Amino acid sequence: MDTVPTYTGAEGVPYASASTAQHFGGNNIKGLMLLQDTQLIETLAHFSRERIPERVVHAAGVGAWGEFEVTHDISELTDAKFLNGIGKKSKVLLRVSTVGPERGGADTIRDVRGWGMKIFTEEGNQDFVFNSIPVFFVRDPIKFPSLNRSHKRHPATNQGDPTMFWDFHNNNQEGIHAIMALFSDRGTPKTVRHLNAYSGHTYKITKEDGTFHYVKVHIKTNQGVETLTNDEATRLAGEAPGIHGVDLYESIAKGDFPSWTFFFQVMTPAQAENYRWNIFDMTKIWPHSDFPLIPVGKLTLNKNPGNYFAEIEQAAFSPSNMVPGIAPSADPLLQARMFAYNDAARYRLGVNYQQLPCNRAVSRVYCPFQRDGSMTFTDNYGGDPNYIGSDLKPINYKGKFGAHGYKIGGHEEWIGSVVGFTSEVVDDDFVQARMFWDMLGKQEGQQEHFVYNVACHLKGAIPQVQEKALGMLSNVYPVIAEKLRVSIGNLKKVAPLN
Ligand code: HEM
Repeated sequence: MDTVPTYTGAEGVPYASASTAQHFGGNNIKGLMLLQDTQLIETLAHFSRERIPERVVHAAGVGAWGEFEVTHDISELTDAKFLNGIGKKSKVLLRVSTVGPERGGADTIRDVRGWGMKIFTEEGNQDFVFNSIPVFFVRDPIKFPSLNRSHKRHPATNQGDPTMFWDFHNNNQEGIHAIMALFSDRGTPKTVRHLNAYSGHTYKITKEDGTFHYVKVHIKTNQGVETLTNDEATRLAGEAPGIHGVDLYESIAKGDFPSWTFFFQVMTPAQAENYRWNIFDMTKIWPHSDFPLIPVGKLTLNKNPGNYFAEIEQAAFSPSNMVPGIAPSADPLLQARMFAYNDAARYRLGVNYQQLPCNRAVSRVYCPFQRDGSMTFTDNYGGDPNYIGSDLKPINYKGKFGAHGYKIGGHEEWIGSVVGFTSEVVDDDFVQARMFWDMLGKQEGQQEHFVYNVACHLKGAIPQVQEKALGMLSNVYPVIAEKLRVSIGNLKKVAPLN
């Protein structure tokens, strides 16, 4: 192929210029445009359609390619092929995002960071769709849309609104630990290279013989955790809103490849039955003193995307993408997520989003009972049978237990009746938040920062909501509410308009 390309239209037809248009009525600035001017019409028509819906949450992100390498043997615990064999490497696509802002939102705002990771394994795609905090704000999935709307724009003013934010959390206090994590300095990471990620959810890792363990996954930065203060983050949001994208891109471009270490916390089914915390409750961690971190592997980012839209914007991650050897647990939030992401991708990218190069499995895909649909760009399985149960083309099946390694019995035996369930907030929901506050106290200045960070936000809420939020935080420790009252008072003196 020529090194200097010849310009053509999208159908490959060469044009003499990319900047002329056909004028009727004069070879100057005055003229009528013609319907026969395909080049102009196509150029304008395509431009009007070059946006796709952005992600409803996690719309702003940065991404890169890399590799996951097994560093420790855990073949006793799981058959997952990409986790077996020290030194084994698998290709990875990673996207790190803020949650609330629209595409183009400032990188340094106070927010949870999302961690969307696709590991291209020899047995299909394994996605880890995690967050930068180990707990979540709600444990009942039906609350998820409300949670996010309360963090986004007010329906009338179209502005972010602290009243809405705190009003939601005042009435859904199970998320207190997550709120505290959000308002710690971890809520403003220095760069994406300096943050940790957590599954939060409990997953299962399984063996072909039907044995399994419960796990939580922890991904720790090898660059060390570094954060910004509230004021630094606010300043950078104005001065360098794209700083996280710039930092990641430049680090990789100059060969300074960031890396992370993967750990599992592992629990037996028997331990799960008697554990102090409900392991299916996403608002709860497992303290490391109970379940230490076991190292598993290493992620290194080593390649920038060649094209952001094609490789990062079009990437689709889903918690339901699990390879044999990894399986979901009975966490209702995880169960709901296993529906929501594929559904979102079908809306955002179209029904054949799995065929896009950035999402396509590297292992052989043979799924002839799911075909056709908008934008089919494989051979669509040619003339192979499109119905289940045919003698015309033999197919091999793999594994004993079907999808996700399930066998009959064990922790997957269910009896009961259908109930409408919503969890209730009890004092136990505040215990880990207390542990978190105590932990902040072990790092110089962190409790003070937390109080200041909350005050900067809470001062924008109406008094009634402010009072209730202080009540919620005094359920953690009364002293937090007392300190906050003082801090909000001080801020109001500085900025009376708020
Ligand atoms: C019921 C609870 C949840 C629901 C219904 C939900 C739903 C969604 C949806 C619809 C998207 C946009 C997907 C797209 O357009 O491609 C998304 C993105 C994301 N969510 Fe959730 N989510 C939930 C909870 C969580 C939790 C608990 C975590 C982390 C532990 C999480 C992490 C992420 C991440 C990292 C992304 C961005 C993925 C990317 O980079 O494309 N979400 N979520």
